[in-house]
Amino acid sequence: MSDPARRCRAAILISGGGTNLQAFIDAVAAKTLELDIALVLSNKADAYGLERAKKADIPTVCIDHTAFDDRESFDRAMAEQIDDADIDLIVLAGFMRILSPWFVRHYEGKVLNIHPALLPKYPGLDTHRRVLEAGDAEHGSTVHFVTEELDGGPRILAGRLKIQDGESPDELMHRVQALEHVIYPRATQLFASGRIRFDNGATLLHGEVLAEPLIEDAP
Ligand code: GRF
Repeated sequence: MSDPARRCRAAILISGGGTNLQAFIDAVAAKTLELDIALVLSNKADAYGLERAKKADIPTVCIDHTAFDDRESFDRAMAEQIDDADIDLIVLAGFMRILSPWFVRHYEGKVLNIHPALLPKYPGLDTHRRVLEAGDAEHGSTVHFVTEELDGGPRILAGRLKIQDGESPDELMHRVQALEHVIYPRATQLFASGRIRFDNGATLLHGEVLAEPLIEDAP
């Protein structure tokens, strides 16, 4: 954002229930997040997150990825909507599509994702089960900038929790999600307020390279 007085305009991309989207809507209403959610875009017509957006009077668009021959054509259709809405930031919130290199380059430094693991551990799917099987003592979720490496972009903020004895993957998932609802709006506020930005493959906080992510421990 070149104009520092401009309020950050975000597009939130979803594929499902949208509990993270709801956390953003609530944080904006509570004024802890200075963001205009200008667009919610889903690749699934039945994503419940679309209902959440409509209830909050946020414009929605659904683009069915199965109607496109390849990943990049779908991404270019999304980009048209995103550019029409004059967007400064794209927030992936349970968006279950891998983005094309074209899209990632086009919006370099402007796309955030949250991944349910303490990255760089456990990129990819099924993280809660994998963490429990490995016998880890800690787990969590990480907000990061999106680059062409899946779940590999520079990290911003990680939420961390201690794994409890006998905890199931499902119980763990719910605790991680509750933590995500705190850390994702918080990390986004850092971007919206200009305190963090992406530069040359790294996260800068107040202009200094952030080698390790900020940490938020679950109570
Ligand atoms: C979150 O747990 C996030 O870590 C992952 O997808 C899930 C989305 O959940 N990327 P919701 O749709 O926000 O409820």
